[in-house]
Amino acid sequence: MKVSIIGTGYVGLVTGACLAEVGHEVICVDVDPRKVDMINSAEAPIHERGLPELLKRNSGRRLSATTNLAAAVADTEITFIAVGTPAANGKIDLKYVEAAAAEIGRAIRDKAGYTTVVVKSTVVPGTTIGVVQRAIERASGKKAGVDFGLGMNPEFLTEGTAVADFTFPDRLVLGGIDARTHDVLRELYQSFDDSVPRIETNPTTAEMIKYASNAVLATMISFSNEIARLCSAVGGVDAIDVMRGVHQAGYFTIRHGGERLTAPICSFLEPGCGFGGSCLPKDVTALVGQGRENGLSLDLLQSVLRINGAQPDEMMRLMGLHYQSLRDVPVAVLGIAFKPDTDDIRESPAFPLIRRLKEQGATLTAYDPIARPSEHPDLAGVRLADSLREAVAGAKIVLLVTRWSEFSALDGLLGELGTQPLVVDGRRVLNPGSFSQYEGIGRA
Ligand code: UDX
Ligand code: UDX
Repeated sequence: MKVSIIGTGYVGLVTGACLAEVGHEVICVDVDPRKVDMINSAEAPIHERGLPELLKRNSGRRLSATTNLAAAVADTEITFIAVGTPAANGKIDLKYVEAAAAEIGRAIRDKAGYTTVVVKSTVVPGTTIGVVQRAIERASGKKAGVDFGLGMNPEFLTEGTAVADFTFPDRLVLGGIDARTHDVLRELYQSFDDSVPRIETNPTTAEMIKYASNAVLATMISFSNEIARLCSAVGGVDAIDVMRGVHQAGYFTIRHGGERLTAPICSFLEPGCGFGGSCLPKDVTALVGQGRENGLSLDLLQSVLRINGAQPDEMMRLMGLHYQSLRDVPVAVLGIAFKPDTDDIRESPAFPLIRRLKEQGATLTAYDPIARPSEHPDLAGVRLADSLREAVAGAKIVLLVTRWSEFSALDGLLGELGTQPLVVDGRRVLNPGSFSQYEGIGRA
């Protein structure tokens, strides 16, 4: 099929490259000419495993990029909206989605053929048949369900494994306003294995499935962190041991033949310094905001955000057990990306921590194996190290924020350097016995 994708960020570009790989003809559209040029030169504008190979195989053949939205829409049967949906003032900001929908509407005004518009961006339930449908109809003078199809097909891509997640999906959620839209979506995903569940539903349910999927992950993280805090306060109990015990319940670990298989969800049932990224914080915020607009107080999800917002304080508390003042104390922050295997720093838990450390007057060095943000307000005055060794040399405190595998070599490295800083493990990945001074979230 001929597909156009508006917005070539983490989601739009991975979607476009993967659809090209399975045989569709894809045109990626972005307002940013730098990204367009890079895609056309088969260069990945983001760090995502497998993406460079996909671009090399498909750019200039089945995949191209342009800034010309109207031409791309005119030339394709199905158009995805994959622009960003940031949170602003405690609610979702739909201005990019609405602008893209209006521009698609203008593009289909004089188009003879039938087009199907599909929302890929994460949008609060009701947006596709509300804001999006209205914007397209107003700009095109055409009617959804008569002159054009309208659908909502959320992504379930985890950064770092997005290409594999797209290629081997656990489910396909296909929201459509009518049978014709469903036919188009079915055809688009025809090449995917028959065993992949297709959830065919209306757009609003599709939107809610996406939010509920992310909200439950965020809830589990905050649940674990609340239990971890209580463990630390009670004493004599380590949240890691507690969670390992929880994981062995038949709900989380199943017996399969002679083996015991632990469900991946258990990684969310671990103590840590909090969740970040472009999805969980903003999606939970958006749901709470939508609740408020509907006269509902979503108390559980508000608590999820509050607990997460306080996790940096827990890291500060652990440092406070050893240092009365952090003034001029050299501190190394390990990890700037919001999680390992990505260069994405959006809503990274490193930033609220760095802000607190700055307020306390610490001397800061930060290091990340991949994320090298050239400018970020929170990094002003922070020295960016080029290697783990450079970051920790001379540090009195080392804070592990992102679970990069490289950081597991910290004990050996400190041994080589002959230094014994306080190590505060925000991800509980290090062996406490390997350090002379060690603190970890949720530790006895
Ligand atoms: C996506 C989804 O769209 C978002 O709803 C979801 O919750 C997370 O993932 P993401 O791909 O991460 O967002 O966003 P981003 O990397 O910011 O990319 C958006 C792209 O759209 C950018 O390249 C931007 O230049 C482009 N854009 C934005 C347009 O082309 N037109 C616009 O009007 C606005
Ligand atoms: C998430 C969902 O996992 C994915 O299904 C959805 O499509 C988009 O949102 P992503 O944000 O890329 O994906 O990463 P994820 O691995 O979920 O991590 C999000 C944040 O939670 C990170 O800051 C991570 O460090 C944190 N996290 C994750 C934990 O604190 N504990 C965990 O067990 C897992």
